[in-house]
Amino acid sequence: MQIRHLFCASVLAIALSISAQAAQAAKSGTHFLADRHVERGVACSVCHGVKTPKPGAVVETAQCNSCHKSLDEVAKRTAKLDPNPHYNHLVGLNCTECHRGHQKSVNMCASCHNIKYNVP
Ligand code: HEC
Ligand code: HEC
Ligand code: HEC
Ligand code: HEC
Repeated sequence: MQIRHLFCASVLAIALSISAQAAQAAKSGTHFLADRHVERGVACSVCHGVKTPKPGAVVETAQCNSCHKSLDEVAKRTAKLDPNPHYNHLVGLNCTECHRGHQKSVNMCASCHNIKYNVP
């Protein structure tokens, strides 16, 4: 019983923090990647594969690529940038190493290089 309560409390805390983030996003005008997809009609279940994603849910690159095709395909769209953020000299770069669903995205290249990107 105790454990179940703790579990429920943490689910609630995370649910609240996600909705708090969403409210904050709406107020400040910043939209995270998942919000922008939802606005375009991409339902939670399309990225997540389940109707109600649970805390700790992740989205595999294959799921992103069901629409975006591949890293090489998105690399064509960012070809004007040098270096191209989608050019991959690292084996098996996943979309969510940079693009985050419900939080600020990160420029993982900057952990090794002095390269500046604005990751949407
Ligand atoms: C564009 C794809 C996409 C859509 C659409 C999307 N998500 Fe996510 N979601 C992600 C990614 C990627 C993660 C992994 C964590 C992160 O990047 O924020 C995630 C993580 C989550 C998590 C786990 C968060 C945590 O911190 O444990 C929950 C819960 C979740 N999503 C709920 C939802 C709900 C509810 C919707 C619909 C309103 C939704 N997602 C729509 C991509 C998406
Ligand atoms: C159901 C199809 C679908 C899935 C699944 C999907 N996307 Fe998208 N995505 C779109 C559409 C449609 C657009 C708007 C048109 C475009 O730019 O291609 C878009 C736009 C984007 C953009 C442009 C920036 C922005 O915010 O508008 C990025 C970055 C992106 N998607 C990343 C991802 C990542 C990462 C995932 C997996 C976590 C993902 N997408 C999953 C359909 C999808
Ligand atoms: C190394 C970080 C990184 C990774 C990994 C990454 N992206 Fe991106 N992505 C970026 C950056 C940076 C931009 C914005 C480029 C710009 O400023 O025009 C971007 C832009 C995009 C766009 C919008 C392109 C446009 O027309 O403006 C899409 C769609 C996208 N990414 C999808 C993906 C998908 C799908 C994956 C995984 C297969 C992925 N990205 C992996 C950094 C990354
Ligand atoms: C773990 C550290 C690390 C990360 C993360 C990393 N790089 Fe590198 N990168 C290196 C090293 C080390 C070299 C030099 C050795 C080599 O050429 O392979 C290099 C070389 C390069 C070069 C020179 C040309 C080439 O292909 O050798 C480019 C361009 C580059 N990186 C771009 C990127 C971009 C874009 C990202 C993000 C997608 C990135 N790097 C992420 C370590 C990293």
